[in-house]
Amino acid sequence: MTDVAGWWRDAVIYQVYIRSFADADGDGIGDIDGVRLRLPYLRALGVDALWLNPWYRSPMVDGGYDVADYRDIDPSFGTLAGAEELIADCHHHGLRVLVDLVPNHTSDQHAWFREAVSAGPGSAERARYWFRPGRGDAPPNDWRSSFGGSAWTQLPDGEWYLHLFAPEQPDLNWDNPEVLAEFDSILRFWLDRGVDGFRIDVAHGLAKDASLPDIGAEPPPRGSAHPHWDRDEVHEIYRRWRRVIDAYGGDREFVAEAWLDDISRLARYVRPHELHTAFNFDFLTCPWDAAALRAVIDKTLTALHAVGAPATWVLSNHDVVRHRTRYGRAETGFAFADRRRLYGSPVDLALGERRARAAALLSLALPGGAYVYQGEELGLWEVEDLPVSLIRDPSWARAGETRDGCRVPLPWSGTEPPFGGAAWLPQPREWEVLTAERQTGDPDSMLELYRRALSLRKELPALGDGGLVWEPDARRGVLDFRREPGFRCLVNLSDSPVVVPSGGSVIASSAPLTSGRLPVDAAVWLG
Ligand code: GLC
Repeated sequence: MTDVAGWWRDAVIYQVYIRSFADADGDGIGDIDGVRLRLPYLRALGVDALWLNPWYRSPMVDGGYDVADYRDIDPSFGTLAGAEELIADCHHHGLRVLVDLVPNHTSDQHAWFREAVSAGPGSAERARYWFRPGRGDAPPNDWRSSFGGSAWTQLPDGEWYLHLFAPEQPDLNWDNPEVLAEFDSILRFWLDRGVDGFRIDVAHGLAKDASLPDIGAEPPPRGSAHPHWDRDEVHEIYRRWRRVIDAYGGDREFVAEAWLDDISRLARYVRPHELHTAFNFDFLTCPWDAAALRAVIDKTLTALHAVGAPATWVLSNHDVVRHRTRYGRAETGFAFADRRRLYGSPVDLALGERRARAAALLSLALPGGAYVYQGEELGLWEVEDLPVSLIRDPSWARAGETRDGCRVPLPWSGTEPPFGGAAWLPQPREWEVLTAERQTGDPDSMLELYRRALSLRKELPALGDGGLVWEPDARRGVLDFRREPGFRCLVNLSDSPVVVPSGGSVIASSAPLTSGRLPVDAAVWLG
């Protein structure tokens, strides 16, 4: 599919969770100026673009995914002028910028929701959200919040409103033309400020069955039969947005955050005239197992190739257990339903690190684009002993689980927490050896592995967009593929070392080879 232009087809996009990235003003919270100061680091790392988690004015009930004003910056992060300067600085450094668009819900402090509350039942203001009378004392239906509990909250006047996430995140009604028009305008607001695209939060959630039926004890699969996940009508919204963004010259992109049951449904989001790319959560959630990974890789490439869209490869983000920790556990896959059960369960961090190194070389060798979640390039692990009093994730109070363990601030330098970083959550003392400063120049470090792999990606025409061919006689438990011209990647997930084939020189490896063999849980690039 290399004939279709588009920088996103092979871009490596670095996810910046601003609150935890870098703190320029020393108030304990990462900020926009902190990102600006660290742009040389990101440029040296070798990524192509940044995706910034929400930076809008927000009460921060859900880390900024509760937006009170889509056209202003939260004061804890900086100012709108500072955001514009950051966009300009990024472009100056050759980095593109994606911002996070949160269209499924607003904050309960957004002007629209406040107006809706005071305007009362039956008003046009309430029609922008989902307000309904209850069923006696019970909520209007049985829908559940993703953070636990009912998806409905009752106001003193008796009406209930829908929130698929926290009560402070009321869902917008995308059947309402005012909502459509407002988001067209928000897109243009940021496009006019030079952003290169948007990450669409909860892209599979915007369309609801307006009859709001019960889901029942056995929910239908996500898709047209489900009353609020992945309904077919959502695609009309994306075709509309595509027209908006295309008017800006065709080099801006959308990436969908859509958690679906089936990659063929995901492919529908990236059909021509809809969104450009989507996060590959099947890859992220896949256990560390050669057959399972190969199946996901094949299904991904087949499903996305059919619609002409590039694949993306994602190992971690701000919502999931960091992959160094996942891969160090007995159960190496990820599922939201398991996170509470596995929280704090035994983890072999050395094993997790070996596998994370191998996974980095795998994901950066596969056809398409890739995401790097801040801190994975430093080998950070999930922090699972945070003081309860400091946990901010709304899913802690509602469901007894937290995503804050992957949001612990980055360690930059020095020997004492907060290691030159933000201090809103405490870092483990052991991160002293993981600071960017300490790893820089150490050829065995995770940081230098990422730098090398990213620089090779730029150099080698075989990498990025394109296809792959599996080696037919690969040993069981070994992922072994070629990409033309002249590139081969092997990942050893078997239980013994494998001979590295002759006929190419080793250009990167996640662990030292031992007598020409690739150790278990290691990857090598040949070129
Ligand atoms: C997405 C975000 C997550 C947020 C949720 C509600 O899944 O990634 O962090 O809590 O949407 O906006």
